[in-house]
Amino acid sequence: MSASYTAVGWNRQKKYYDWLIFGFCVLYLSLFVWLTAIYNPQYTFETMLIRATATLAVLLLHVILATGPLARLNRKFLPLLYNRRHLGVTMFTVALVHSGFSILQFHSLGNTNPFVSLFTSNTQFNSVSQFPFQALGFFALIIFFLMAITSHDFWLHNLSPKVWKTLHMFVYLAYFLIIMHVMLGVVQYETNPVFVVMIAAGAGTLITLHVITGIKEVKKDNRVFNIKKEGYVYVCNVNDIDESRAKIFCIDTERIAVYKHDGKLYAINNVCKHQGGPLGEGKILDGCITCPWHGYQYLPGNGQSPPPFKEKVSTYDTRIDGGKVWLHPTPYPEGTDRPGAII
Ligand code: HEM
Ligand code: FES
Repeated sequence: MSASYTAVGWNRQKKYYDWLIFGFCVLYLSLFVWLTAIYNPQYTFETMLIRATATLAVLLLHVILATGPLARLNRKFLPLLYNRRHLGVTMFTVALVHSGFSILQFHSLGNTNPFVSLFTSNTQFNSVSQFPFQALGFFALIIFFLMAITSHDFWLHNLSPKVWKTLHMFVYLAYFLIIMHVMLGVVQYETNPVFVVMIAAGAGTLITLHVITGIKEVKKDNRVFNIKKEGYVYVCNVNDIDESRAKIFCIDTERIAVYKHDGKLYAINNVCKHQGGPLGEGKILDGCITCPWHGYQYLPGNGQSPPPFKEKVSTYDTRIDGGKVWLHPTPYPEGTDRPGAII
């Protein structure tokens, strides 16, 4: 939560996940090469490696893209979200191995510079079956590279969360490029339908997950709050909120998390300053509202991160009247102390 560079803080949980990712990758690559050697012994080791790393990178890319909506639908997937950047860097590394071996195998044997050959050896842009699909993989790889090198929080703070998030949204363009890389590449000359089936299943799953999550969010945002009194809006009953947890309300475009803590109700802006995580889906740990995505913390009374951190979010007034919770949707400046409503 600071703007100066600090090395990645590998806590026990992150180490555990990194070993899990590493173990899975090694197992996948070994199995792929072993099974190919049995069923397709005519392939060279380089071709096996190109195919093994290509399919692994695409599998990891699907997991990465599914993590966001899955974590919104079920809290059990939050650890995946917490470790998503490590998975992204792993995916880039695996894709880099695939790209490197492909360039070596297909472009480094002639007199032309391999990177020039990548773009000039095939220029049949108006043919579907002969399309220069490798260039699409190259552009996707550049996007993954930019995402991987800016994945550390140092870049998030220096580029600003808005620019960082925009850059990382290019992952969807990269995903599209990869789909086309496969559809205009291997699918054109490989008779085995497994590639089409897997790409269709993967893209179908991703689209379904994103649509379901989107519908859920829109429903939450469109809830109408009709009962109003002196600028306050009736939102729920005190008992609807669990201790150390929150409920999220979207009123006049303000997303507000109302937390119950130590006999009081506090309201803060729901959007985490790190990457916009939903603070109201977190819980209070050690007296601090803790973002469910990567653990940034804020004090319930003033929306400030505990020192030495400097992040702060807006606060709001709450009132309790006969067990009913009333919320004033006008934000106080970020980090403003509010007393909270006594239960
Ligand atoms: C400079 C960048 C890249 C080059 C030159 C390249 C080249 C190739 C080549 C030549 C093939 C066909 C291999 C074969 O039929 O055996 C291929 C297939 C494939 N590539 Fe790439 N690629 C690049 C980047 C990427 C990236 C970034 C990804 C995914 C993250 C990717 C995923 C795939 C997949 C899934 C296949 C189909 C499976 C296969 O046939 O191996 N490629 N690529
Ligand atoms: S979004 Fe990363 S900690 Fe909140």
